[in-house]
Amino acid sequence: MKIGYVQFNPEFGNVEGNLNHVKDALEEIDADLIVLPELFNTGYTFTDIKEVHELSEDIPNGRTTKFLSELAKKHNLFIAGGLAEVSEGRLFNSAVLVGPDGYIGKYRKSHLFFEENLWFEPGETGFQIFNINGVNVGMLICFDWIFPEAMRTLALKGADLILHMTNLVLPFYQISATTRAVENKVFIILSNRYGTEKRNGREFRFTGQSEIVSPKGEILVQSLAEEDDVKIIEINPEEARKKSINEYNDLFKMRRTDLYFK
Ligand code: ACM
Repeated sequence: MKIGYVQFNPEFGNVEGNLNHVKDALEEIDADLIVLPELFNTGYTFTDIKEVHELSEDIPNGRTTKFLSELAKKHNLFIAGGLAEVSEGRLFNSAVLVGPDGYIGKYRKSHLFFEENLWFEPGETGFQIFNINGVNVGMLICFDWIFPEAMRTLALKGADLILHMTNLVLPFYQISATTRAVENKVFIILSNRYGTEKRNGREFRFTGQSEIVSPKGEILVQSLAEEDDVKIIEINPEEARKKSINEYNDLFKMRRTDLYFK
């Protein structure tokens, strides 16, 4: 399975330009699955709720989901990407998964970071598995990373591959993802953005360094902190199915749920 990501610097509010960037980035590629960053179509730094409403879209009937579905059909691949969602007036920081046959599913960010709490409701979709051509994938969005239960839940539900869409501002996850991958024995595609957004007194610098991590904790590919990049590699998803590290230690079977705090 050929998996990859697009790292870029979305321009705030320029949905047309950001969608076109992705279209151009995917023009020449050969891949089965591509992951885009969190809020890739709009940018991150909202400054009032009116702006969030204006830039949020229905999933699956909005412009961005339709655009991604057409791209997925044209290139015969699966695509996951993050976008602001409006649903009956409620706003979510969401991610969508589409494939050659169109819309597959969505995830609404469970753990909101900083002022996202002013704009969005915490998601209630929970951590779902989607089967794409026999491979189990689950989606996470950015700050979900610091709650190990999120990826753990996906792994316990059978995820082989975590599609992690980010706009990281803290420096830790590109390293921590190696631990998450090892403890859960999953592949992680960490699709991050880069660049700085300065809007109305708010400023965020996003850390780039998107990467793909193996179940052994190896960083298989990584981008620079500041560059437009597309990386695609071939993996064997079966490598995520073996949860034992020797004949005594199966990381899932030996969990001491009788001792853990609930
Ligand atoms: C973040 O959750 N976008 C930092």
